[in-house]
Amino acid sequence: MNLELSEEQLAVRDAAREFAKSELLPGVIDRDETQTFPAEQIKKLGELGFMGMMVDPKYGGSGMDTVSYVLAMEELSKIDASASVCVSVNNSLVCWGIEKFGSEEQKQKYLVPLASGKKIGAFCLSEPEAGSDATSQRTTAIDKGDHYLLNGTKNWITNGGTASYYVVIAQTDIDKGHKGINAFIVEQDWEGFMVGAKENKLGIRGSDTHTIMFQDVKVPKENRIGEDGFGFKFAMKVLSGGRIGIAAQALGIASGAYELALAYSQERKAFGKEISQHQAIAFKLADMATDIEASRLLCLKAACQKDVGENFDQASAMAKLFASATAMKHTVEAVQIHGGYGFVKEYHVERLMRDAKITQIYEGTSEVQKIVISRNLLKG
Ligand code: CAA
Repeated sequence: MNLELSEEQLAVRDAAREFAKSELLPGVIDRDETQTFPAEQIKKLGELGFMGMMVDPKYGGSGMDTVSYVLAMEELSKIDASASVCVSVNNSLVCWGIEKFGSEEQKQKYLVPLASGKKIGAFCLSEPEAGSDATSQRTTAIDKGDHYLLNGTKNWITNGGTASYYVVIAQTDIDKGHKGINAFIVEQDWEGFMVGAKENKLGIRGSDTHTIMFQDVKVPKENRIGEDGFGFKFAMKVLSGGRIGIAAQALGIASGAYELALAYSQERKAFGKEISQHQAIAFKLADMATDIEASRLLCLKAACQKDVGENFDQASAMAKLFASATAMKHTVEAVQIHGGYGFVKEYHVERLMRDAKITQIYEGTSEVQKIVISRNLLKG
């Protein structure tokens, strides 16, 4: 792994950092409070090429590598994890999946608008009774000749109310287990497609999370992704890439909180000196910086493996496991360093602490990451 970032990669990081400060920071507290989706900001991110970062320019993308994506995700997430999860789902779970496994027609019709940021995508796997146990899909897609008839309910769908195109995982043949699962591209304005109420969440409150219902939705045969029965492996592969994005989101939440805590500790005085000069605080800063650097290296390792075409399942799970634990642990410490100020919204760290929790849950809980890691280890 080359630890030296290229000029292009540094430019992407700086552009994301600048965008986060100038466009995401204003209003981030209000959007969190009112659960407002950052629609304008996402539109601008699309215009700047951040919604299809790794997609080939011939399909409307920016043609960047996964390392650049990690760098951008960290910077956006330092300020606004509600915006960055929208970016991550669109890039990793939707665009990458269609580009890697979709047909040429699907790429022309769906990937081009998604990668150029003109449309937003969503990924529908989780169900009321199928979260970690992803093979237990209850949503059915029955083969009716020229189309599938889709019925069921999906939970916790990021971009649920704002997306135009949804990648939906459904059971087509219950007797075949995971080999009877398929993935489909579904359009939001098709008959029988319904968006449920928005979830009222602890964190990432500006992101748009809904239940989605399908009632006899007719999905054309050509909207199935890949060969019949490929849907479960498609979901696993796509989630493996998605975990790099969420690991980088967790990294950004942790490093955003750390930067705020470091600055505060150098301003705030107690017992006659800046609190950073007290070893109790200095040691916290040392632990934070060390875990954040380790998280960053794990994210970059997974990204590098993906970029050179190696299997990145284990590396992405390790990155997500470690970075999300780091985000949770150290956002709590950042609040502690801020004392009473950390408990009020104006200082941002309480929001980062609330946002951190979801990184240990979505795109596979920490326990799921341990299943993936241990299975890869035992496979040899
Ligand atoms: N790539 C390719 N194939 C894979 C794979 C991968 N990464 N992982 C598994 N497979 C294959 C296996 O090889 C196996 O195939 P064969 O039978 O042909 O050998 C098949 O898939 C089944 O694999 P497992 O037996 O390992 O499956 P399992 O039922 O034991 O599940 C699991 C393993 C890791 C727990 C999996 O179910 C999982 O990842 N669950 C979590 C799902 C998840 O992340 N949900 C989050 C929802 S999406 C979200 O959060 C989006 C959002 O909006 C933010």
